[in-house]
Amino acid sequence: MKPKMKPKMKPKTDPPGFHRELTVGEVAARGGVAVSTLHFYESKGLIKSWRNNGNQRRYAREVLRRVAVIKVAQRTGIPLASIRKALKALPGERTPSAEDWKSLSAAWRAELNDRIDRLTRLREQLDGCIGCGCLSLGACPLRNPWDKLSAQGPGPRLLEPD
Ligand code: FES
Repeated sequence: MKPKMKPKMKPKTDPPGFHRELTVGEVAARGGVAVSTLHFYESKGLIKSWRNNGNQRRYAREVLRRVAVIKVAQRTGIPLASIRKALKALPGERTPSAEDWKSLSAAWRAELNDRIDRLTRLREQLDGCIGCGCLSLGACPLRNPWDKLSAQGPGPRLLEPD
């Protein structure tokens, strides 16, 4: 008679070297950011940590995904304020899931397109300024795009068309 096999049981403890909470150094190393960047993200409300009994910062493992989302968004030029707003809008401020990322990236794509359009217009206007240097309120499109600023009175005004 064949001996009965014992069912495989899940280990009650995590394997050696595995722990659910991460130190700031571990998050920095695995997330590819400096420790100071993590502190900065935290000061801006983008990530959260807690203090252990030794008063050291600890992070949930999910923070790695959050850091990845923040880095990708920053790389595309999305302002930190927009990133924070988008992350805070997620239910329970959860770490973005694949579905969350789809909708976040779609919204940021539109923002990125808008920025590209603005920069393209600015570059076209710059062509006329190269070698000029007048910075004339009346003639320079960069100093006074489409002469819109004349309605606002004299003196330096914003360079953004809107
Ligand atoms: S600097 Fe002269 S047109 Fe812009």
